[in-house]
Amino acid sequence: MTVHFIGAGPGAADLLTLRGRDIIASCPVCLYAGSLVPEEILSHCPESAKIVNTAPMDLDQIMAEIEWAHKAGKDVARLHSGDLSVWSAMGEQIRRLKDMGIPVSVTPGVPSFAAAAAALGTELTLPGLAQSVVLTRTPGRASSMPEGETLENFARTGATLAIHLSISNLDTVIADLIPAYGADCPVAVVYRASWPDERIIRATLSTLKDALDESISRTALILVGPVLAGEGFDESCLYSKTYDRRYRPQSADSPWSSWSPENE
Ligand SMILES: C[S@@+](CC[C@H](N)C(=O)[O-])C[C@H]1O[C@@H](n2cnc3c(N)ncnc32)[C@H](O)[C@@H]1O
Repeated sequence: MTVHFIGAGPGAADLLTLRGRDIIASCPVCLYAGSLVPEEILSHCPESAKIVNTAPMDLDQIMAEIEWAHKAGKDVARLHSGDLSVWSAMGEQIRRLKDMGIPVSVTPGVPSFAAAAAALGTELTLPGLAQSVVLTRTPGRASSMPEGETLENFARTGATLAIHLSISNLDTVIADLIPAYGADCPVAVVYRASWPDERIIRATLSTLKDALDESISRTALILVGPVLAGEGFDESCLYSKTYDRRYRPQSADSPWSSWSPENE
């Protein structure tokens, strides 16, 4: 018996990996985080599957469900939104499962920041503008931030910021970022990326507050940085005519001219 953690993607039911779909179809028990996992994904469960929405449950209750499945020898598909590597609460569940001697597997999913970037049609790392993406959040009612992980600190790097779980902290986000990025820095808020009611709001740090209305109160990502303008960046070397590289040596003298995958 194994507990299979599966990233269920950002919302659209077809943004699920084939591996995730197949594991769901093979598990007689499915526990899903109902606040963000789309119900359509549950259609991959076997007809007789026991399906449990864990949104109203605490960790002990979730573990009790898994323990029951373990005793019954039934594999569990454990679904969380997006990818499991960020803000999924997978860590604490795996820690308990290890203590209980229950095997786990992990299948990645499409994270919401990638779905938001896709909705915007934007590369978040544009040469000459930003080569790093910071996935972060601001403190919430239930979660403080480790010292040093402040927006001001991240802003000093000039990287593209993908700020999660923070749409209700907008005033703080804007005030913390303007000193480093400037009031005219482009910003995009993507609400429910890939869901049917997805919305995109583009603005600058100084105009963002007025550009948003109260309907955007949760499940939104705030993307900040010069890349959001989609202009003023360099071309990459990857496809440059003159860049000497392994897959496209520029002359017979190139160190790559005799290279082939076979003699690597
Ligand atoms: C608990 S975290 C889950 C993150 C998830 N594990 C991931 O890979 O993106 C929830 C936050 O992620 C962001 N989020 C999740 N799904 C989203 C979506 N479809 N569109 C925009 N933001 C989303 C929002 O900032 C939301 O408050």
